[in-house]
Amino acid sequence: MAHTDHEPTSELKSMKAAVSGDSIAKAEARAERQEKLERELQGNRAITLDPAKRSVQVQRFEGMLRERVVGQAPAIEAILDSFSKILAGVRNTERPLLTLLFLGPTGVGKTETVKALGETIFGKRNAFVRINCQEFASEFTVSKLFGSPPGYVGNDVEPMLSQDNLDRHHKEAQAEGRGVFAEGEGKIAKLFPQVKSHYMSIVLFDEIEKAHPKLWNALLGLMEDGHLTLGNNKTVDFTRSIIVITTNVGAEEMSSTLRHRSIGFEVATDAEELNRNIKQKAIEAAKDVFPYEFLNRFDDIICFRVLTTDDLKRILNLMLQDVYKRLLNAQAPILLHYSPSYLDKILKEGTDPQFGARPMRRAVERLLVAPLSRLIASNQVQAGDVISVRLRNEVPVFIREPAGGKPSKKKGGGDRIVK
Ligand SMILES: Nc1ncnc2c1ncn2[C@@H]1O[C@H](COP(=O)(O)OP(=O)(O)O)[C@@H](O)[C@H]1O
Ligand SMILES: [Mg+2]
Repeated sequence: MAHTDHEPTSELKSMKAAVSGDSIAKAEARAERQEKLERELQGNRAITLDPAKRSVQVQRFEGMLRERVVGQAPAIEAILDSFSKILAGVRNTERPLLTLLFLGPTGVGKTETVKALGETIFGKRNAFVRINCQEFASEFTVSKLFGSPPGYVGNDVEPMLSQDNLDRHHKEAQAEGRGVFAEGEGKIAKLFPQVKSHYMSIVLFDEIEKAHPKLWNALLGLMEDGHLTLGNNKTVDFTRSIIVITTNVGAEEMSSTLRHRSIGFEVATDAEELNRNIKQKAIEAAKDVFPYEFLNRFDDIICFRVLTTDDLKRILNLMLQDVYKRLLNAQAPILLHYSPSYLDKILKEGTDPQFGARPMRRAVERLLVAPLSRLIASNQVQAGDVISVRLRNEVPVFIREPAGGKPSKKKGGGDRIVK
């Protein structure tokens, strides 16, 4: 658990630097002073207000989410809007904080968005309750979620959707000072109730179409009044939960549309038309599979779009940064310089229109992490080395640069940035 803890902290630091150059609390104070000043200057004049303007705190969330999730602005907007409502105190407190349905092709960031949310709020990518609906296709398995009535088999096992399981991530983040509870976070933590038993949670129901109808019914009720009754008659409170439900319905139709595509879309209008097409297919498929009253209860239904070549480059860049973090974790700080042709190879191997960015991680593992690990394990590469990675006859070549020297030849590539 502890080994991932440094991750959000370093991101937080870069965020802080990006936002204000000093502390968040100071930035907030400055924004408040500025607003007060503007208000005084405006005096009694009637002025047009700007509903699109977001508070400093919400802007920070936006920055952190956008840093992790490439493209997919509508999903981020929906999340930010709900935070604005919490901040303003106008949200409906008898329903979950936010209920979203994510549609769209495979590998374009649906699950990643929820992980980014976990990282942003609780400082950990896996700080959410994940219900893999595929595992709850039968009535028997569904009882693992809700628990069985007294006297039934499995009654002694804690249901996955118990209040304790829901509250756990908030409690841990608070105790360990992670995420919004980290020091110097200013007013952002005030977004979240500090009172005991008022814990926030993020719950992901992945691939809902695979679940037993009993689970759908439970979700219907839960989205409507924010509560769920367990097998043991205890009530679980979801009114402080962000609930994300993903579905793969329409994936077949979407992938047949995508199958004929080569990688990426060089012309913007081309991509736009494709996305409209995909969205229509996704929504039609959802209407076929889910009852109207189910679709009608979401705060928002969001169709994730197909990734462009540019998106994929940025995702590769994020993955390379993760490799750096892993190297640091392994106590092997190594400076890596990649040649552009090498990066192009990873990009090419990691791109498949049908599976979005899913093959990218495998390509990074195969072309970078695996050979590099062997070099480290066999002591050919040591902490502090500068390594250039190039492509020779389509095969990655690793070259250790002379100590104190600069990487030989060719500019470009860069150590982290994908050009
Ligand atoms: N929009 C995106 N932003 C950042 N990373 C992404 C994005 N889309 C896909 N990825 C990368 O690809 C992997 C698979 O994406 P995921 O979110 O699990 O796909 P799905 O949409 O099927 O849930 C993730 O682990 C992540 O590294
Ligand atoms: Mg997913």
